[in-house]
Amino acid sequence: MKTISFLGSPRRNGNTAALLHRVLDGIYHDNDAEREDSIFLHEKNIKACNGCNACKLEKNGICIIKDDMQDLYRQIGKSELIILASPIYWWSVTAQMKLFIDRLYGINKDCGRKKVMMLMTYGGELPNSGPETVEKLFREICAYLHLEVAGVLGVCTETCEVKDNPSALQRAFEMGRNI
Ligand SMILES: Cc1cc2nc3c(=O)[nH]c(=O)nc-3n(C[C@H](O)[C@H](O)[C@H](O)COP(=O)(O)O)c2cc1C
Repeated sequence: MKTISFLGSPRRNGNTAALLHRVLDGIYHDNDAEREDSIFLHEKNIKACNGCNACKLEKNGICIIKDDMQDLYRQIGKSELIILASPIYWWSVTAQMKLFIDRLYGINKDCGRKKVMMLMTYGGELPNSGPETVEKLFREICAYLHLEVAGVLGVCTETCEVKDNPSALQRAFEMGRNI
């Protein structure tokens, strides 16, 4: 399955990256040749949505902001599965991920049925309204954009980093393999 994945953590090799890479291990367990690097949002030039509504006002409208999103729109258009991975920061996603999600306002709702997966890591044990809030907003965004929710996985990192958490790594691998 043609997959594009977005890492919203500023830590390239942190918990969220470990979780994301394990899901990708599962997706590509028998076909590693097709695997592509995840997009590290922290190093992308993604400007904030300016609310101009150009993407909505014209038929087949596209976002008029000229930055790295233009290439990412093209890549998303070619993908069947989109994975968003973010730590919880202040009961929400990181600023890097929020900038990216706001710019998804510009994608065409009728761009074909795509699947989307949300991965989260967070410090506070459940119950924790941060990951619950993010899961809710993720599901609502998918419904609005006519995208299919392929799965949501959250892992608490307070006492154990993802890389040292075999059960979390196993769940991530299975989630990718079963897609
Ligand atoms: C600025 C900041 C804000 C955070 N806010 C929350 C929060 O609201 N809830 C929570 O459970 N964890 C919070 N955390 C903890 C991170 O979500 C957690 O450590 C996560 O696993 C980090 O992922 P990373 O290793 O990919 O950077 C916060 C961490 C930082 C640095």
